[in-house]
Amino acid sequence: MPDPTRRNVVCGLLIGLAAPGALAACSTTATQGNPPAPAGSSSSENTGSGGPSGVTLTKLSDVPVGSGLIVAGPSGKILLVRPADNEVHGLDPVCPHAGVTVAVPKKGTITCPGHGSQFDGSTGELRKGPATTGLTKIPVKISGDSVVTA
Ligand code: FES
Repeated sequence: MPDPTRRNVVCGLLIGLAAPGALAACSTTATQGNPPAPAGSSSSENTGSGGPSGVTLTKLSDVPVGSGLIVAGPSGKILLVRPADNEVHGLDPVCPHAGVTVAVPKKGTITCPGHGSQFDGSTGELRKGPATTGLTKIPVKISGDSVVTA
């Protein structure tokens, strides 16, 4: 008859070997409702993230007051609009209707050359379709004489 102490040790080993698999199964179940983001992407959704903060986009003087400038950001193009001397906003220049790059603001209005949608020249809010939503905001700020991601 086997030694009861030895049997307990063997059972303990079997449980120990089975437990990691059980834990892995539990872990898989726990993440099914909220899968992790793909590696290397901070956000692949159009949530308005301009990528890392503090990245210099351009000199403030390059952004005309009352209009704007499209620059290369760390995560794609950014439309910088400057409604006032010390006020700059960042917008995704990709039209939400069919993906055409919008024009810089003129007389307070951003117009898409694709099909004529119009957006507020400061906020990017929708003024006229066929687009059904406004332009996505991208956080930027003035830092000294530059415009940087925020
Ligand atoms: S792509 Fe901009 S209005 Fe159609």
